[in-house]
Amino acid sequence: MMVRRGEKSLGNPLDSLISMEYTSPIVLFMKTIITYGTFDLFHTGHVNLLKRAKALGDRLIVGVTSDAYDQSRGKLNVMQNCAERIENVRRSGLADLIVVEEEEGQKVLDVQKYGVDVFAIGSDWVGKFDYLKEYCEVVYLERTKGVSSTDLRQEKNEIVRMGIAGAGRIAGRFLYESKYVSGIDVTSVYARKEERAKEFAEIHELPEYYTDYSEFLNHVDAVYVAVPHHVHYDFVKEALMHGKHVLCEKPIFLTKREAEELFALAEEKNCILQEAIKTAFAPAFLQLVGVAKSGLIGSIRSVDATFTKLETDKTLREYDINQAGGALNELGSYPMLAIIKLLGIQEPEVSFITSKDSASGVDVFTRVNFLYKHASATANAGIGVKKEGDLCIAGTKGYIYVPAPWWKTEYFKLCFEDSRRNRKYFIKFEEDGLRYELSAFLNMIHGGGIVNHMLTPEESIFMAGIFEMFRNGENVRVLS
Ligand code: CTP
Repeated sequence: MMVRRGEKSLGNPLDSLISMEYTSPIVLFMKTIITYGTFDLFHTGHVNLLKRAKALGDRLIVGVTSDAYDQSRGKLNVMQNCAERIENVRRSGLADLIVVEEEEGQKVLDVQKYGVDVFAIGSDWVGKFDYLKEYCEVVYLERTKGVSSTDLRQEKNEIVRMGIAGAGRIAGRFLYESKYVSGIDVTSVYARKEERAKEFAEIHELPEYYTDYSEFLNHVDAVYVAVPHHVHYDFVKEALMHGKHVLCEKPIFLTKREAEELFALAEEKNCILQEAIKTAFAPAFLQLVGVAKSGLIGSIRSVDATFTKLETDKTLREYDINQAGGALNELGSYPMLAIIKLLGIQEPEVSFITSKDSASGVDVFTRVNFLYKHASATANAGIGVKKEGDLCIAGTKGYIYVPAPWWKTEYFKLCFEDSRRNRKYFIKFEEDGLRYELSAFLNMIHGGGIVNHMLTPEESIFMAGIFEMFRNGENVRVLS
């Protein structure tokens, strides 16, 4: 048995010997079978499938999905990582070769590359792989009834009952996205007005709705706080006091003190408190930060990020100063996220240039300037001014450019003086992308502590401090 990632050896010293098998003439007379799967929490269904597949020929190749591929096809919440899942398959002793499935379209190439005679897969996929019949025989094998990785995951981790506090626009989108994350069940909504709560519950087929926040909290394990910014503090505090996990819309808090107090309270109560800036959890953004920090473009010297969304209806919350409206509060978290993920939170000097709406007094366009020891950055946010929503990261060896809308990154390019070295990266971002933050939140609840590096409490506290500075008029230049 050997493990291959494409053509690369994973370090088994026998690889070179065993791989000779494939160039030997004997192999030509062998009947080769290939099958694919995630093989998370390896179970009897998997064993049976591999046995049935192996019985179809002489040599069985098993493709195990990479973590990135599962993410990109929306299979979130897989509990074991790729190395563990490969180990599951290896231990079964049924695979002669294990390959890693890294992207869409790979099956066609693998079938040809490994001289496959039969492609076999469970009956839950009937018809889905008929396109491979052009290259080999396709067999759908009976699936073992009554067992699946999904069921095992749910047995291991109880379903988290989640409630939505607030029945506004984002709450509806959140509900839709939550359907893509297994292990979470959105059961109720809270809204101040009964009519609104009832209507929201009916439209979204939620079993329960409440107008009493405390009662609502008694019926859930976790809360998604999607009420206006200026009441986040009260809603989050009460939820934490009830011992509930909280995912709270951005900006989570508007002052540093509030942020410090409630992140400390969350720790004390052993609850997860997470700011919901969806970009922080998106696969492409994570890769973008990894590439930028890897030294490929040298030292980062400047970051410029923009998010504008023209809003003309001045009756909306966005134009209400008493509800913490304005461009920076509304949209500034995104460009600031890019800056702090790339340049850190080690006390940059921060200043603001802003244009205000004379009637409402809210800012319609704000530029935040960050001055670090070796780099500078600008975050632009606009609700009354339109600007290209792109992100540019400039380094001493090259730069990274992400076209608008960069906060839903699906594509970015790496550019150098010698343009022959330029590279393009394409990564999926599914629909609204809220599923990534929700899936990370769920992982944290289940104790998968590796995820909160994506957006730490310290980073959220730092951003709350910037909102506070702006509101207090510290280092703010108002354009007339
Ligand atoms: N399989 C099977 N019988 C089961 C479960 C899975 O024959 N009870 C087969 C699938 O049809 C597929 C392979 O095992 O050919 C790998 O499936 P995978 O998706 O990894 O397992 P599932 O248990 O179906 O996982 P999930 O619940 O996450 O979809």
